[in-house]
Amino acid sequence: MARNFKTLDDMGDVTGKRVLVREDLNVPMADGVVTDDTRLRAAVSTVAELADKGAKVIVLAHFGRPKGQRDPSMSLALVTLPFQQVLGREVRFIDDQHAAEVIDKMQDGEVGILENTRFDPGEEKNAPDTIERLAALGDLYVNDAFSAAHRAHASTEGLAHKLPAFAGRQMEAELDALDKALGNPEHPVAAVVGGAKVSSKLDVLRHLVEKVDHLIIGGGMANTFLAARGVNVGNSLCEHDLTGTAEEILEAADKANCTVHLPYDVVVAKEFKPNPPTRTVNVHEVAADEMILDVGPAATEALGDVLKNCRTLVWNGPMGAFETPPFDAATVALAKTAAALTKEGSLVSVAGGGDTVAALNQAGVADDFTFVSTAGGAFLEWMEGKELPGVAALAR
Ligand code: 3PG
Repeated sequence: MARNFKTLDDMGDVTGKRVLVREDLNVPMADGVVTDDTRLRAAVSTVAELADKGAKVIVLAHFGRPKGQRDPSMSLALVTLPFQQVLGREVRFIDDQHAAEVIDKMQDGEVGILENTRFDPGEEKNAPDTIERLAALGDLYVNDAFSAAHRAHASTEGLAHKLPAFAGRQMEAELDALDKALGNPEHPVAAVVGGAKVSSKLDVLRHLVEKVDHLIIGGGMANTFLAARGVNVGNSLCEHDLTGTAEEILEAADKANCTVHLPYDVVVAKEFKPNPPTRTVNVHEVAADEMILDVGPAATEALGDVLKNCRTLVWNGPMGAFETPPFDAATVALAKTAAALTKEGSLVSVAGGGDTVAALNQAGVADDFTFVSTAGGAFLEWMEGKELPGVAALAR
């Protein structure tokens, strides 16, 4: 792949340089405890490498959506200690009111986290004075936050035009994986798209039918497609007003030689709760008072066979209501097949977005995928074929 961005390898000697590193430290927290530290771990390689090379590392990040107001519950002071523990070296919190003085006194190889960039109303506006204020704190800029790259904010986009700009190791890994998955993939390519609502993924589906050979649709959104094909989905979650749009997507897929796979057997229940009485039925046998809550075992096995003939897989969204047992069965089974094929070396598998990582963790296979993105919204926008401003700004 011809890369159009610079990386840490292109930075030259960074000893004593103040390097502003945009990370995504937007981690879930409950009662002051980080409940999923994936993003903290993803930030380690870049921060550690730069510190080892003698840079003064100043981490920029947002935390929550404070909308330009100071809110102590969204202070990055709360994330400093958890990050220090994951990084395995000292990290200081830099209050943004005294940032310049603190940074002046930093030793080579020291690491600090600057207060939540979103406390400044100019951050989300990508305002020139905010960009100036941040740029004055550093000599070089590294963007390592792919998962915030769909935002054109001062710390994710503006700074790249103001200081020499480089992609961090996590950003580099994300971009390489995404290129392998949809940019320049080995065909045949399959995409799994699941989740509750088709309305949230219309642009994803429209883009994918032009790009992939097999589109596997699962989750609640499959019901809208089944309804578009004349199936009576009973009491299932279904966006009936979008069946026309679903038909258009099916037609576009047909024209682009993309095979769309919808479930032909399904697991249904009358109540949506853990372990209710269920039936496994053909899609044409769903009763008026039943809900489709998972893809059935026969269709799941057939989908596994589709993956066996593919070289590349991009996965977003669960196949069923996976948080509620037993409706995780199809997601777990298909994820296990994908993981096994990846291990054998026949499949490049890339997953990301919202619930997807949780679903793959539940299946116990996240580590066996070729790459699991840390991104939610950014992954979806990338799947829509959109240019991400944070990535575009790094382009040479
Ligand atoms: C995320 O959590 O997906 C990123 O950190 C971006 O956060 P945002 O949606 O608040 O911009």
